[in-house]
Amino acid sequence: MKKDIAQQYKTAIATYLNTSSEHIYLYYKGRVALYAILKAMQVQQGDEVIIPAFTCVVVPNAIKYLGATPVYVDIDPVTYNADMQCLKRAITEHTKVIICQNTFGLSSNVEEIQSLARSRQIYTIEDCTHGFGGTYHGKPNGSYCDAAFYSTQWNKPFSTGVGGFALVQNQMLQQRMTEVNNQLELPTRKDAISLSTLYFVREKILTEKRYWRMIRLYRWLSRHNLVQGSSGGTELVSTVMPSHYFKALSTTQMKKGLQNLQHLNDTLALRKQNAIIYNDYLQKHGKTFVESALFEDHSFLKFPILVNDRKKVMDMAEEQKIPLGEWFCSPIHPIDKNWELWDFHANKCPIAVEKASQMLNLPTDEKETDKIIRFLEKINDYLL
Ligand SMILES: Cc1ncc(COP(=O)(O)O)c(C=O)c1O
Repeated sequence: MKKDIAQQYKTAIATYLNTSSEHIYLYYKGRVALYAILKAMQVQQGDEVIIPAFTCVVVPNAIKYLGATPVYVDIDPVTYNADMQCLKRAITEHTKVIICQNTFGLSSNVEEIQSLARSRQIYTIEDCTHGFGGTYHGKPNGSYCDAAFYSTQWNKPFSTGVGGFALVQNQMLQQRMTEVNNQLELPTRKDAISLSTLYFVREKILTEKRYWRMIRLYRWLSRHNLVQGSSGGTELVSTVMPSHYFKALSTTQMKKGLQNLQHLNDTLALRKQNAIIYNDYLQKHGKTFVESALFEDHSFLKFPILVNDRKKVMDMAEEQKIPLGEWFCSPIHPIDKNWELWDFHANKCPIAVEKASQMLNLPTDEKETDKIIRFLEKINDYLL
């Protein structure tokens, strides 16, 4: 029975990624999928892993759990992904892997990064945690690199509460993934209970009206490991691997995933339509927008806006009940201090630091788009 659900779930995912279900590996979270891939690539102490300086702290964490060093590359302010010149300069004889990303779903230079890496026997991984369901130059996100990982945490393209998976196309790595996965722990009864709490809170309590009150409570509960959150406990203050980190996906999560995948196409269409509307507004009003050619074939998971007074705009959003996002308000989201602990040095990535200090994001799964446009009008003077 369990095997059937896992197989059904992998097949459903593989269909979207235009691949075989044998190349899909399921994990308790996206970060765990990344850790498994890095382990299969035999990343270890002395190795360097290049990542864009617009990332989530769980990415450098996975690298550091293996004793390797994350090397941050400044971003291109147009795509919020790695700047190609900075990336080329960051490669050394110790570089084992380059991680590229689809930031908010937006990919860039993936083929160039892949061919650069191949010529130097460096592995590539695509962080597709924001981009499942989107395509890049006609192929599903995650198709170009040796491996890719995806997240199904609750605000991702489709959700299993928390969850993730890997797509591995490199044959040698596929064999190693099977060996690595022999060490996976099974989720416990406590995990099942905290997942059920998460589903209940998300589906019944976290309504739009209560968004701001509940989101604070949810973040507090998850930080203290009382409900399954995106990141909790030691992950935000330490680079030591938490106990019971390397965990498999539960059957309950797979069932949720199968259910939620059914709505994916509708949500992607809504996200795309909203992104176009927001982008048009920003362009028309002389604000920072995204060149439409860059996002022809993908949906923004959140839409980036840059502001000159984040606190003021967040207060206005709370007042107007707009669920404004704060993704990438730090180059290693959501860490706002002690960046050195994750080997991040602000002076090496000035653009990422500047853009992160101006960053906020609009919801793209919003049905009342007019409400967001009215909000943009209200914050017009703060928009950059
Ligand atoms: C860019 C990025 N990478 C990796 C992850 C990790 O995904 P997960 O929360 O499923 O571990 C996230 C999570 O939001 C993310 O935003």
